[in-house]
Amino acid sequence: MATTLQELLGIELPIIQAPMAGVQNSALAIAVSNAGGLGSLPCAMLDVEAIRQEITTIKLHSSKPTNVNFFCHTPPRENIEKEACWRKELTPFYQELGVDPLAITPGAGRAPYSQQAAEVLAELKPEVVSFHFGLPEPELLAYTKGFGAKILASATTVAEALWLEERGVDAIIAQGIEAGGHRGHFLSDDLSQQMGTSTLVPQIVARVEVPVIAAGGIASAEGVAEAMKLGAAGVQLGTAYLLCPEATTSPIHRAALKSDSAQHTVITNVFTGRPARGIVNRLIQELGPINSAAPQFPLAASAIAPLRAKAESQGSGDFSPLWAGQNIVGCHEVSAGELTRRLAGL
Ligand SMILES: Cc1cc2nc3c(=O)[nH]c(=O)nc-3n(C[C@H](O)[C@H](O)[C@H](O)COP(=O)(O)O)c2cc1C
Repeated sequence: MATTLQELLGIELPIIQAPMAGVQNSALAIAVSNAGGLGSLPCAMLDVEAIRQEITTIKLHSSKPTNVNFFCHTPPRENIEKEACWRKELTPFYQELGVDPLAITPGAGRAPYSQQAAEVLAELKPEVVSFHFGLPEPELLAYTKGFGAKILASATTVAEALWLEERGVDAIIAQGIEAGGHRGHFLSDDLSQQMGTSTLVPQIVARVEVPVIAAGGIASAEGVAEAMKLGAAGVQLGTAYLLCPEATTSPIHRAALKSDSAQHTVITNVFTGRPARGIVNRLIQELGPINSAAPQFPLAASAIAPLRAKAESQGSGDFSPLWAGQNIVGCHEVSAGELTRRLAGL
């Protein structure tokens, strides 16, 4: 039986670059994997053909293990009344920015893991597959394990960790409340159940047999060492990689991360309909952070998209999701390989 996360996943360093849909592609994953960590490819916003291309690119540029990541949400049901209510909330912004709400079309959504995606993976055989928002249906999970992928999944509570272990995951990502991006919760929507990383990790470690990966607010080699002292077998960091040249983080997002406003992040549902942590901006201040009119994930995003596009064209991030965790001190404009080695204390 494998004794360390490195042995389990075939990596040299216990550092996982968090998959981050919308701000990275294969380039970041390749850089981290080649540095000895586990690079990750977020697939939630990619169609099956793009998934195939990106994994093929990774295989061309790295012979090291890589993680491919998927969301496991229940696809939403279109709700005309809810959508109308959401657009009503946004009307003053449409008027101010000169956006015609009738011209809004459903934008690029976020699709859950599917049999079609799994078939591409079965062909290309990524070494690791990770899931956010729970797990796929048992048959699809069994199919994925069947081609030899190691399975990781996020837990935000002890109950979720036990649920994941019971269903056979190989390691659990303990996502603390500090983490940037979407919360991975899936058993309860009650955000008051969510804990900080240093509270959550030892509680999960005490209850499960599989390795636990700490995520949320880790930003330095010291932070990595602390997580390991709490019993983590490895760490997963997202925010720290956002300024790396290999990430596709937009100039507006990069500027926000480098400004004082990055000191204030909040968990909000206004961008997608699901709680996620990002830097406070105008949309959050005026409609959030949690707004009951926001349609089910990921439908809330379509009505925001034209506001975001218009504002960004004027150099403003007022309507952009500026995803970031609470701890931005690890964000440096250094190559992802260099950052990975630094985090490992090398
Ligand atoms: C910009 C951004 C996008 C993210 N997108 C994803 C994603 O697509 N899939 C996923 O499993 N986690 C995603 N996450 C969450 C990370 O997996 C991880 O929990 C988090 O980054 C850890 O906290 P940290 O940001 O403080 O390092 C995202 C995080 C950020 C900052």
